[in-house]
Amino acid sequence: MTIARKLHKQGKITCLDGHVGVGKTSLVNVAAYTCFQDYIKGETHQLLVPCVETFDLRQGESTEEFAHRVFRKVAQTLIEKSAQVRGMSLDMEGKAALDAWLNNSHMETVSLGLKWIVECSTGKALNNSSGFQNEGFEKAVRNWLKEIFQQRGTGGVVCVIDNVELLETAANARKSMEALRDRLFNIEGLRWVFCGANGVIHSLAASPRLSAFLNTPVIDVANIHPKYLGPLIEARTREFAPEYERAYLPINIEDMQWLYMLLNHNLRDLLGLCDEYCETEFSLGKTNLTKDVRKARFDKWLRKATSDRYNQLSSRLPKSSWAILDAAMTNDFKGTFGVNEIDALNAASRESVSSEGFKKGLRELERHGLVSRIINGDVESGGDEFKRDVCTVTSKGALVHYGRMLKEETTSISDTSWLKRVHY
Ligand SMILES: Nc1ncnc2c1ncn2[C@@H]1O[C@H](COP(=O)(O)OP(=O)(O)OP(=O)(O)O)[C@@H](O)[C@H]1O
Ligand SMILES: [Mg+2]
Repeated sequence: MTIARKLHKQGKITCLDGHVGVGKTSLVNVAAYTCFQDYIKGETHQLLVPCVETFDLRQGESTEEFAHRVFRKVAQTLIEKSAQVRGMSLDMEGKAALDAWLNNSHMETVSLGLKWIVECSTGKALNNSSGFQNEGFEKAVRNWLKEIFQQRGTGGVVCVIDNVELLETAANARKSMEALRDRLFNIEGLRWVFCGANGVIHSLAASPRLSAFLNTPVIDVANIHPKYLGPLIEARTREFAPEYERAYLPINIEDMQWLYMLLNHNLRDLLGLCDEYCETEFSLGKTNLTKDVRKARFDKWLRKATSDRYNQLSSRLPKSSWAILDAAMTNDFKGTFGVNEIDALNAASRESVSSEGFKKGLRELERHGLVSRIINGDVESGGDEFKRDVCTVTSKGALVHYGRMLKEETTSISDTSWLKRVHY
């Protein structure tokens, strides 16, 4: 609802941030789809059309290349969706702007023109004679957007720039977005969404060059509460099982809930791991077991899966990394700690780590994907950046830590009872 409301708000870019794998992309997609359906059902005057693809920012891609990618996908979107909204008198073939533009080419009919746009939008040039370059194509799409959306509550095609955190540093992300600002973010008929993990979107919001364009505050997408895992799995089973009535899951919901906590609420990794487990069980023919047997088999599998992961890494990381991870998984931190909390982490540990050891240990944890850093504050403040960042144990880190617990190798001295079902 919040996202849909923000999408309807004219002009400003909707912003979402949250931990990796909590469901940000799904949430945006559902919101954009709902807005589109609401228009079709006549519940709103504002037409919002979800773009057929989400966009990612690629290292080394120029602003122009990115813009061209966007225009191609927007054209493709309008062509694909026009069939669905035709009944709503969105007959794009008849649009004057498109017509006028087409008349300049050697093509004779609107349908040929449409075909050309389809080919352009899919990257396969059809019309050798036209001589239209990117510029002509972009102009046509812009006109098209103007024509379509001017009369429909000034809506637009919803374009999502996703996974902004993959640009590695917040400074990179900010630079890329600032470069795109005047080129793309004020085009009539486009509605933008920025989606990223671990604070990168918050850091964009701190940019004076961008802040006026953004719809703030940034929406913080929290994890789905474990109690909703049951209905969530049921919905997925209903959607994906060929015969829902006879669907059988070789894993108990309670065990999934517990694994979800253990994975630090990473829904993506939870579903991935459960999928891996269920496939194995099916291949072994374990398709009709009692709840207790299912639980026992799952526990055994998890022990092995976590031990294997830990064994692969145990000698590759320095002692300081393990000390930090163990301390971070105590009740004192519950998987999240500030990079300036070295003293508190040391207090929760049998192994004292020096300031140099802490930096190295943390670097190695990040390099192996056991911990990820949440950008927290102004990236341009130089050295201070490190002091304000917050780290969170990833689902992989949490699993490996569980592997250490099983081997009784943890070095923490504080309570770890928040990991309720963890047994030595
Ligand atoms: N409400 C939901 N019901 C059922 N499944 C969901 C729901 N939300 C998310 N999922 C599933 O959880 C997984 C992770 O969701 P999604 O990809 O949206 O997360 P994300 O936050 O965008 O992740 P990342 O940070 O890795 O991009 C996907 O497989 C998605 O299908
Ligand atoms: Mg995503």
